[in-house]
Amino acid sequence: MCGIVGYIGPRPVLPILIGGLKKLEYRGYDSSGCAAVTPDNTMLVFKAKGKVSNLEEKTKECQQPCTLGIAHTRWATHGIPSETNAHPHLSQSGNLAIVHNGIIENYATLRDQLRKRGYTFKSETDTEVLVQLIEYIMNIRHSDLATSVRSALRLCIGAYAIAVVDRRVPTQMVAARKSSPLAIGIGKENGEFFIASDASPIAEYTNRIVYLNDEDVALIEQGKELQIENLHSGSVDYEIKEVDLDLTMLDKGGFPHFMLKEIFDQPTVLKDCMRGRIIERDGSLRVVLSAVEQHKQRLVSARRFTIVSCGTSWHAGLIGKQLIEHFCRIHTEVAYASEYRYNDVVVDPDEVVIAISQSGETADTLAAIEIAKKHGAMVFGIVNSVGSSIARQTDTGTYVHIGPEIGVASTKAFTGQVTVLAMLALALGHERGTVDHEEYEEVLRELTRIPDKIDHILRQNDRIRDMARIFTYAHNCLYLGRGWNYPVALEGALKLKEISYIHAEGYPAAEMKHGPIALIDQDMPVIFIATHHRLYQKIISNMQEVLSRKGRIFAIVTEGDEQVRNMCAEVIEVPDTLACLEPLLTVIPLQLLSYHVAVAKQLNVDQPRNLAKSVTVE
Ligand code: M6R
Repeated sequence: MCGIVGYIGPRPVLPILIGGLKKLEYRGYDSSGCAAVTPDNTMLVFKAKGKVSNLEEKTKECQQPCTLGIAHTRWATHGIPSETNAHPHLSQSGNLAIVHNGIIENYATLRDQLRKRGYTFKSETDTEVLVQLIEYIMNIRHSDLATSVRSALRLCIGAYAIAVVDRRVPTQMVAARKSSPLAIGIGKENGEFFIASDASPIAEYTNRIVYLNDEDVALIEQGKELQIENLHSGSVDYEIKEVDLDLTMLDKGGFPHFMLKEIFDQPTVLKDCMRGRIIERDGSLRVVLSAVEQHKQRLVSARRFTIVSCGTSWHAGLIGKQLIEHFCRIHTEVAYASEYRYNDVVVDPDEVVIAISQSGETADTLAAIEIAKKHGAMVFGIVNSVGSSIARQTDTGTYVHIGPEIGVASTKAFTGQVTVLAMLALALGHERGTVDHEEYEEVLRELTRIPDKIDHILRQNDRIRDMARIFTYAHNCLYLGRGWNYPVALEGALKLKEISYIHAEGYPAAEMKHGPIALIDQDMPVIFIATHHRLYQKIISNMQEVLSRKGRIFAIVTEGDEQVRNMCAEVIEVPDTLACLEPLLTVIPLQLLSYHVAVAKQLNVDQPRNLAKSVTVE
């Protein structure tokens, strides 16, 4: 998804902009660009298709001492990926430059009106319409930049995070947001400021961050105090947050790709996720989540839970439903946030809506939260990105705390989310008295053992890499699981298609006979999650159905299993655990499998085609 970086201050701006864009590369993009204002009021603009390194090459020649600039990575929405459509876009006179994330939905109407007033457009973008509109207002009203931006934004429908500069005023920049994140870093040197779509490009310079709220417009002037005005409520008393982002977490740490690093991070980060929450005292375990402590009454008496999320977070939600229903005996629905936001949903004011999101910026999930709140439901966030929009818009919640996830294919966020859901279900079940004390302690004890068990699975990495070669020739794959492992089948299939571009479907194993069985032949690998639990014998029957159609079976099995092994081309063993915690183990080989298939196919693992890390458009 698009990313914004900006700087104003005493340091040379171009290296800061390029370095910042590189930190945002993980979001996914197809082109990039930057604009820098020289002290003698010239606007320099550089754009490049493809990687930020292409843009860096173009800026290397520039010797001008610019100290104000804005930059952008673009992920095409209006118009093809090209230098013309790449940001920044200039106003008709060339005085103003803008970078923009989001979509101005009424851009076509605004563009027609501007055309009637003599404006012409070089690109196909909604963003160019916005900068022309700002200039038009500036010209007819003789207003300053901040006032003109505010007036223009009042005419816009849609989502935006923007930064605008005027070459005639090289000491100021205006930034604004609505439904798309924007952070302002207050620097340490001579009144400098940084802006960015998230804190990662800013973190090496300062940890003092102001997060803009929806419809806030900031006037950022070097050496002056930051001023923020809301489009509707006027001057804003903003809060400066001290954000501690671990910079080493943004490196690949010796791994060839972020995705592999993040898969291997899981034993460590799951311990971080549980730290201070699962507490041992006098030999017995307890789970303490501050959100549950603070909102106990409302949570414990909830008549229903609805989980809203997208993609991998939705798969975690399906496991969350089973956990909550099992431990709390409360009816739980799981909805795609993108559907929930437009459905005629029935929301009970006694209901609790759980929003799950790694990035905390997913537009569909944010919209679903808004609907739930409008109907009076309490919204509980399970979010990884600290200070993100979802974290701020939910009534309460629990951070996942697994560090930044950079690879577009979500891995450690999934296991982190499931871990939080397990802790939440146990905490609530304990309060409600729907889980007996022995089971409560047993599950908590086993949860604390999961990181070591994941470590054990990761040691099979080389074997899984060898096995992955078989899959590089496949065009279709089927993933089958039941009960707790059905969502893992969905997640395994999503991982494979996202990064290896092999078509894959996940199904509850018993559903296979109702349709997908028609696809089975010797060319389609079928992956079963066939661990030793309640439905083990049933899964074996499903495997027989595949074998009798000459299908080739690969399976995730419990350590020591012989029966399934004899039916399969290959098996990967996982340590035994409680059924409800199995997804935390069975998903690991599937993450590694898709990673190695993508590497064997020489694909871009961390930034697969057409995908973005945080999906801030609907
Ligand atoms: O940041 P979120 O958890 O809200 O993102 C939701 C999905 O966009 C995300 O999980 C997506 O499906 C990933 N690419 C999956 O690997």
